[in-house]
Amino acid sequence: MTPATSLFTPVEADLQILADNLTQLVGNRHPILYAAAEHLFGAGGKRIRPAIVLLISRATMLENDITPRHRRLAEITEMIHTASLVHDDVVDESNVRRGVPTVHSLFGNRIAVLAGDFLFAQSSWYLANLDNLDVVKLLSEVIMDLAAGEIQQGLNRFDTNLSTETYLQKSYYKTASLIANSAKAAGLLSDVSPETAENLYNYGKHLGLAFQIVDDILDFTGSTDTLGKPAASDLKSGNLTAPVLFALKEQPYLEVLIEREFAQEGDLEQALNLISDSQGIEKARELAAHHAQVARENIDSLAPSESRQALINMTDYVLSRLY
Ligand code: IPE
Ligand code: IPE
Ligand code: MG
Ligand code: MG
Repeated sequence: MTPATSLFTPVEADLQILADNLTQLVGNRHPILYAAAEHLFGAGGKRIRPAIVLLISRATMLENDITPRHRRLAEITEMIHTASLVHDDVVDESNVRRGVPTVHSLFGNRIAVLAGDFLFAQSSWYLANLDNLDVVKLLSEVIMDLAAGEIQQGLNRFDTNLSTETYLQKSYYKTASLIANSAKAAGLLSDVSPETAENLYNYGKHLGLAFQIVDDILDFTGSTDTLGKPAASDLKSGNLTAPVLFALKEQPYLEVLIEREFAQEGDLEQALNLISDSQGIEKARELAAHHAQVARENIDSLAPSESRQALINMTDYVLSRLY
């Protein structure tokens, strides 16, 4: 589950501190949530978002050490992400996450919704305490985007007229916004130029889109075992992702199966076969590769360093998850 550790080498020690802090921060005052917190932060998340924040922090602070604010931003980023997963698993009725049972499957929906709310609220509090209004604005927009993305996805279920643009917009809201805005925020904490801040935002945005498209492909090609979460679940629940949208252009009968919401026996299997007989997966892979390349181009403005190299390698890592 963990990415090639070499990718995170420049911030490995930082990530260790982060892991210890996260459990502390969340578990501190709320015994009911302590179990959920331990469960969440103890389990096998890849920690890609805080790693990116820490790598950008180091790549933009070459002369000095990173500050406690950089570290706190990385923690907030993982907290927001984890909160969104707790809610996402309620919405998706998913029973496994990070290789362990989800919060709602252990404690019920009521506790899971409240635990997610608590994590969002707590991350907002830590965010405000960074005392940097620009950073507060960036990250609070992310929390709005996450909710907007879930709502948009819910409204578009089984809609075969969904355009690639709308799919990408939803993916921005659900995934890329957090990576983009936290990347930019890390730069702001290092006092980078407005131009560099914009490049960092675009790096995160396109890396995030590539990451989501790859996640959507893995939902078709991966196994529950390797993913640590249920595979083959997006199509079944009517969440039409890149491979399906491309396949729809080649396989008209797929539309019939989706529009009737797989009501007849064997519909879902037939749909999956139509997708694997199409260029859908390959075209989705090309779309992910395109966004990874745009991300890569946006990192050039940073001065060369070990951390910058890791950020470049991250754009390959995202695609390599497919192999
Ligand atoms: C899962 O994100 C949600 C998506 C945006 C696809 P990750 O794959 O980064 O999840 P963890 O944190 O490693 O569990
Ligand atoms: C991204 O979407 C997750 C969130 C931003 C909450 P997915 O629905 O694809 O995430 P997984 O596949 O459940 O991890
Ligand atoms: Mg989901
Ligand atoms: Mg997914």
